[in-house]
Amino acid sequence: MKISQALSVTLHDYMPRAGDMRSEILGGLAASPKILRPKYFYDERGSKLFDAICELPEYYLTRTELGIMEASAADMANVLGARVLLVEPGSGTSMKTRLLLDKLHWPCAYVPVDISREHLIAAADRMNRYYPALEVLPVCADFSQSFALPAPRLPAARTVVYFPGSTIGNFEPAAAVALLKQLQQLAGRKGALLIGVDLNKDRGVLEAAYNDAAGVTAAFNLNLLTRLNRELNGNFKLERFQHRAPYNQAEGRIEMHLISLDDQTVHIAGETVRFGAGEAIVTEYSYKHTLPGFTALAAQAGWSVRKVWTDERRWFSVQYLTAG
Ligand code: TRP
Repeated sequence: MKISQALSVTLHDYMPRAGDMRSEILGGLAASPKILRPKYFYDERGSKLFDAICELPEYYLTRTELGIMEASAADMANVLGARVLLVEPGSGTSMKTRLLLDKLHWPCAYVPVDISREHLIAAADRMNRYYPALEVLPVCADFSQSFALPAPRLPAARTVVYFPGSTIGNFEPAAAVALLKQLQQLAGRKGALLIGVDLNKDRGVLEAAYNDAAGVTAAFNLNLLTRLNRELNGNFKLERFQHRAPYNQAEGRIEMHLISLDDQTVHIAGETVRFGAGEAIVTEYSYKHTLPGFTALAAQAGWSVRKVWTDERRWFSVQYLTAG
């Protein structure tokens, strides 16, 4: 681990390895069904399109979770208690985090954790300006791997991991349990988890959220192929693939697909990949949990659900969990 000064904050850098994009992508395209890892969505244009998705009228998740935070952050702060060390894995634009921090009682430090060094430093610097009295301790690390938390200047009463955005829904059950275990290791014995979990609901609402009328989610999904063309010397013809996001009721998940519109051959990174007409590449899952279903999943990782906040329609939840 390396400690360095970056803008107004001190960076704790575990130097996460980027991974081998070429072998991961080619491996996924050789699998059956074909699969592309969602982390490759987030190049510069992908990150912008993702921010635009969060503003879409059909995309209820961000708006609903923000509403829950606005209504209940004060209650959450009471439950979390004073002098919390707040850790946020995969810290994004920190809008929701600010709603929480505004209400927390004497938080002792904020630890954003992100694999992307640039985004992390910019976000930490911003938080440092919003909260000049709060110690901000950014950690550059892959949050699915174990790492040590930096020690805050002031002693913390407990560590709370904040994991909003229903990011847990993008993990398949076994991987979700592994991640929840990892977060428990991070929070420690007296620790807690405050997590955003999207809930199961009417198919029409779900499918509209991931198949918006303006086509932003389609552009986001197809941008993955643009990136492969640019970075791995591919020749995907974008007009011969189509975005689709059906709800798989049996599995309880939205499945993001790119469908090949006809029989075609694509060259990428010096290899040849064949597609049949109608064949899908799976690009992401988004699980929609039930309240009892998530309680059971969390229990497998040793977490107990202690309190749940939802919106009036019960479309989204923010849940408070403690170890054991
Ligand atoms: N976790 C959120 C969700 O599943 C946000 C998200 C991640 C998302 N990847 C996405 C939204 C791709 C739309 C498309 O909805």
